[in-house]
Amino acid sequence: MPLAISLRTFSAWKPENLKPGTQLNRRREEFPTLASGIHLLSHSLGPMPRAARESMNAYVEAWEHHTSEDAWATSWWEMSARIGDRIAALIGGAPGSIQIQPNASIALSSVASCFDFTSSKRNKVVTSALDFPSMEYIWDAQKRIGARVEVVPSDDGITIPLARILEEIDDTTCLVALSHVSFRSSYRVDAKAIVERAHQHGALVLFDAYQSAGAMELHASDWEADFLIGGTIKWLCGGPACGYLYVRPDLQKALQPRLTGWVAHEAPFEFSHAPIRYDDSVRRFAQGTREQFRQNQSDAPSG
Ligand SMILES: Cc1ncc(COP(=O)(O)O)c(C=O)c1O
Repeated sequence: MPLAISLRTFSAWKPENLKPGTQLNRRREEFPTLASGIHLLSHSLGPMPRAARESMNAYVEAWEHHTSEDAWATSWWEMSARIGDRIAALIGGAPGSIQIQPNASIALSSVASCFDFTSSKRNKVVTSALDFPSMEYIWDAQKRIGARVEVVPSDDGITIPLARILEEIDDTTCLVALSHVSFRSSYRVDAKAIVERAHQHGALVLFDAYQSAGAMELHASDWEADFLIGGTIKWLCGGPACGYLYVRPDLQKALQPRLTGWVAHEAPFEFSHAPIRYDDSVRRFAQGTREQFRQNQSDAPSG
């Protein structure tokens, strides 16, 4: 179904919708497999850029040498923040707003672990029937620790009227968590309207931007979204299993994720005993050792 819908959307596309001066083919040469055909799989696996191979070779070289020097001090510690800032630019976020994650499912679990569903009447999570299965499973699991989960249905399996989402948001809502663009149908929600309503009721908003980041312009800061999650394998062409979590900069310090680890500590190399003292930066949303290999792929120069 997603392919059929994508083709329908594509047939409605008109050249006059392009920004003046846009050259559609300007990056084609950077993707060797495009020489043999059209790539229609980016909703699942984006084509590999030529620079990814070069970047991975450079990584293997560096790794070999890192065994005789301090790999973290030399490059690995900073890599995560550097890639985070590059992704932030793509989703319309400020530098310092993104923590790299193992994948989008962990990014969402990190956000879920910031809420205490049992201790307050504000324990409602609004989601939708067009979200990715991981998202459904994660919210369903939060019911065991007191979350009330409202799944806004889709009558046609393709769309959800905005009004239906808005009317579910009330003063007991702690989080609205929706796909920005649905993997099931390509349906896109009205991000700004949802954030506006949620904030009026004191609720936070998370968008799963996996199917939109890289395919269209996003405006995380302008929308005043609280969280965005996603990953690099699809439209960002950055290879498998490198996820990310955007957290609105002025919200970061108010949150203490239970899904945590030593990298989230303000002084990780002190290896001190609990309780954790969370770092003041977005690194407070990290867990353990970050996957340098995959990050290195995603860090390939954009050409
Ligand atoms: C919209 C959406 N969210 C989440 C995921 C899952 O991401 P991950 O495998 O990084 O947890 C996918 C893709 O597979 C997706 O399309």
